[in-house]
Amino acid sequence: MEAKRNAAEKAAAYVQDNMVVGLGTGSTAYWAIEQLGKRVGGGLHIRAVATSVQSEEQARKLGIPIVPFAEIDQIDITIDGADEVDQQFNLIKGGGGALLREKIVAAASKQMIVIVDESKLVDELGTFPLPVEIVKFGFEMTMRKLADLGCELRLRMKGNDIYETDNGNYIADCDFGRIADPEQLHQQINLIPGVVDNGLFVRMTQHVIVGYKSGDTEELRKKNT
Ligand code: A5P
Repeated sequence: MEAKRNAAEKAAAYVQDNMVVGLGTGSTAYWAIEQLGKRVGGGLHIRAVATSVQSEEQARKLGIPIVPFAEIDQIDITIDGADEVDQQFNLIKGGGGALLREKIVAAASKQMIVIVDESKLVDELGTFPLPVEIVKFGFEMTMRKLADLGCELRLRMKGNDIYETDNGNYIADCDFGRIADPEQLHQQINLIPGVVDNGLFVRMTQHVIVGYKSGDTEELRKKNT
């Protein structure tokens, strides 16, 4: 927990007065929202867009003003976690089910800071099964087409019920093994009718903050992504 919190607090320090901020989702983003809440309590003026109902509720409780997309042209900075980060800063996201809103928010952001603990750093993506958001209609067929791409997959469940995203869709968790070409796989998956989006984030961040068990944090930056 400390590692996630340290990375999150370091990222929150990049937020400046009058910025529009994208709030991520998950146990690491939670700490960034907490820290922003403290700063807002201390007089920081920001407007925020949340990537999930959960993060929106947390932010509102902390007094962080949430605005609809209609009121903004661009997001200055988004702070979000990830399930895996490779050496090119490609990501797998969606373990918490929020990948679609997370991608929409990230794509609308001038910069995205990814906050992770060291366990999320990998040489190649794919140990973490790739979450794919699919619409309910015909989901069995959509899952067969996903399997045809060469993965083993399962429909995400919540207890005895099928898990539903904030957007009213399902998630198929797809184990492709090592993902040699994330960009190609991203495109192949999103071409399947019934797929809304998948958890591969390719070239969406240039800045990763890693928290270590030792208590240290490390900032990794990439140019030309
Ligand atoms: C939410 O859908 C995800 O993309 C999270 O950002 C990701 O799963 C990381 O979550 P943790 O910070 O809880 O590990």
